[in-house]
Amino acid sequence: MSAILPPAERLWYKHPIDRVEGTWIVIALLWCLIMFAMMVGWHIWGHQNLSTETYRTTPDKFMPKVQAMVDKYTVRTETDEKIPVVAPLPDSDVYLLARLWNFYPILELEKGKTYRLHLSAMDYNHGFSLQPANINIQMVPGFEHVVTVTPNQSGTYSVVCNEYCGIGHHKMVGRIYIK
Ligand code: CUA
Repeated sequence: MSAILPPAERLWYKHPIDRVEGTWIVIALLWCLIMFAMMVGWHIWGHQNLSTETYRTTPDKFMPKVQAMVDKYTVRTETDEKIPVVAPLPDSDVYLLARLWNFYPILELEKGKTYRLHLSAMDYNHGFSLQPANINIQMVPGFEHVVTVTPNQSGTYSVVCNEYCGIGHHKMVGRIYIK
């Protein structure tokens, strides 16, 4: 039978099912059920649930907190734009903001130390995609998302915006150093 011509027997669903086809349907169904169970399993045992600690905020309330941390803990600046590199104390509150089209400031954190990372956007929705660790969080205007982080690997990490936010979206990249 060809797929170009209509089938001779129109009631295709009444045909007996081939054993191979039936086997594949059963395998696919079982796999669906396994994957479904794994969603629940990862939620309980996977240790990958994102923090749900969020607060309402505004740019006028969030910006001063970011700036206070920058004023207190800046250790140097980078690039021609003099972006501050901030090394806050372990166990402290750390702030990172997203806006058209950069992340501010650059953070320098210590491996094995814990920080409360506060994220918010000043204007539109932005993405926080930590590379190469591939941790993805949204940065939403009007909301302050607090994530408790304990970096377990040193290195230089990029923060990439992965929510399309306009003409400069592709060059919206931030940086986090882990010492
Ligand atoms: Cu910010 Cu895309």
